[in-house]
Amino acid sequence: MCGIVGYIGSHQAAPVILEGLSKLEYRGYDSAGMAVFNGEKIQIQKSVGRLKVLEELTHGGATMPGTVGIGHTRWATHGAPSDENAHPHYNQEETIAVVHNGIIENYLPLREKLLSKGYQFVSDTDTEVLAHLIDYYYKGNPLEAITKVMHRVQGSYALGIIFSEHPDQIFAVRKDSPLIVGQNENGCFIASDVPAVLKYTRKVYFIENQEVVRLRVDHMHFYTVDEEEIQKEPVTIDWDADAAEKGGYEHFMLKEMYEQPKTVTDTLLPRIKDNDIVIEELGMSDEEINAIRKIFIVACGSAYHAGVTAKYVIEGIARIPVEVDLASEFRYRNPIFEEGTMVVVISQSGETADSLAALRESQKLGHKVLGIVNVVGSSIAREADNVMYTWAGPEIAVATTKAYSAQLIALYLLAMKFGKVRGKLDADAFHSMLKDLKRLPGQIERLLANKQRIQRFANRYIGAKDVFFIGRGIDYAISMEGSLKLKEISYIHSEAYAAGELKHGTISLIEEGTLVAAVATQDALFQKTLSNMVEVKARGAFVLAVTNEGNTEIEKAADYCIYIPRTNPYFANSLAIIPLQLFGYYVAVGKGCDVDKPRNLAKSVTVE
Ligand code: G6P
Repeated sequence: MCGIVGYIGSHQAAPVILEGLSKLEYRGYDSAGMAVFNGEKIQIQKSVGRLKVLEELTHGGATMPGTVGIGHTRWATHGAPSDENAHPHYNQEETIAVVHNGIIENYLPLREKLLSKGYQFVSDTDTEVLAHLIDYYYKGNPLEAITKVMHRVQGSYALGIIFSEHPDQIFAVRKDSPLIVGQNENGCFIASDVPAVLKYTRKVYFIENQEVVRLRVDHMHFYTVDEEEIQKEPVTIDWDADAAEKGGYEHFMLKEMYEQPKTVTDTLLPRIKDNDIVIEELGMSDEEINAIRKIFIVACGSAYHAGVTAKYVIEGIARIPVEVDLASEFRYRNPIFEEGTMVVVISQSGETADSLAALRESQKLGHKVLGIVNVVGSSIAREADNVMYTWAGPEIAVATTKAYSAQLIALYLLAMKFGKVRGKLDADAFHSMLKDLKRLPGQIERLLANKQRIQRFANRYIGAKDVFFIGRGIDYAISMEGSLKLKEISYIHSEAYAAGELKHGTISLIEEGTLVAAVATQDALFQKTLSNMVEVKARGAFVLAVTNEGNTEIEKAADYCIYIPRTNPYFANSLAIIPLQLFGYYVAVGKGCDVDKPRNLAKSVTVE
């Protein structure tokens, strides 16, 4: 969601801002803008559409001279995507400019109040309220005005603010929306995420909730909401800028799919020691593991789908009851916490607003939360009681692939660890599972090598209207993720159904030629799913089957088969999802869709 970049230094600001914003495009946006102080006043340029529109409008930033500026990519919440609603927003005198990521929940009463004081609004946004409110409190001291505003507004915000009366400063403010600052010998930077500044510096500071930063050309000062100065330690980013580049691949998504063998290895191997699973970050003794009575897994999107898989895996291996919840539901459903309830929040970005709220809700009720998180130093990583990182590296494509694969591994490890400690997994089974886990990276590689066959098949379905994904048990969880991959990037309507449920309504949608992707990796359920395939085929469906090598019987009911290598049934998701990711990807490529930045979607959903 909205991306923020700001720069103050010895170089021209606009090109630095444009470059930084291009690294945040993955967050999802529908308009972009910049504000630069040109020596006399703050100049703003903004436009609906892609960043390249803004680049053209400003000739790569050349028409906006100045060394202090802020920029923004907007994902519309309040008010349609339009030039007026794009950020930055001015106060009336155009002496203050603001960019904002988040939602100001009490913007309506504030707007009323400001209207009654004579302020006029030119946009429908909640952000414009901030520009006028800062103006209202500004009596010459920007820090004082900003902190007063922070006391008045409710909601979430990461802000970049400049004042024409203080052109030697930029202000960065944060509450519940991500923001970092960084510094090098040529100036200081603010950004929503590390990739935006990585070209310039590796030394960054994570701003905490309710903190304000005053950036000058050569130094930064940090303050609390009560204007007290605080000291902060920088973090050195050790991943390479190349990790956030396409590296010769046509799309980030393709590159990230190809990184999955490494992602799986990196998440797995550091936790296998002397043929045992050691998860130090879990911070749980064997007694505590034995005391678990129930696990809530809470997440959104694909992370939720990883959670659905984990329910089958943890219940199957460790025999602990698991409830999986969408974070947006969990936070308001008043869940029943009992003694021995463990909460696991899964999130790639570590910034998803609903997942973060679910975490806080659980902690408020006195329950510890384990975060399974990819982005180091993100909000969920910092606020969770314990963090198990998925070592997937930066993921740029909006549609997740490698982080999802890493989440599965973390969850398998958890299930096996719990199963072993609780005496539900004997030594032989444990060691055979370990062997299967270690084989996964090589097996994923083999599946990726088969991409051309899937591409040819996908090309036949670029005109599809509806696609159904069916499966039972873990195969149902795989279907959910396969369906999401297809719909989010190709805009083809698709649904995942528990295969046995299809005949209770949805089968009426099957027409001659409708594509049904049937996932049948679970031997115990194979015959059942086969029957469901026969049922849809009899009604005209074209059936694509994903099953284990050797299950040739499936060819009776399928029109096209993709075979995956054999593994422990609990780990089948890690393999079966690969052809489904490739299928979604190639359908979207075939349709000419913007694969890495699908319409209306955001990588990091920082608003509710
Ligand atoms: C967005 C992304 C999805 C992701 C979901 C949850 O919708 O587009 O790919 O699965 O958010 O994000 P998280 O960062 O919490 O895993």
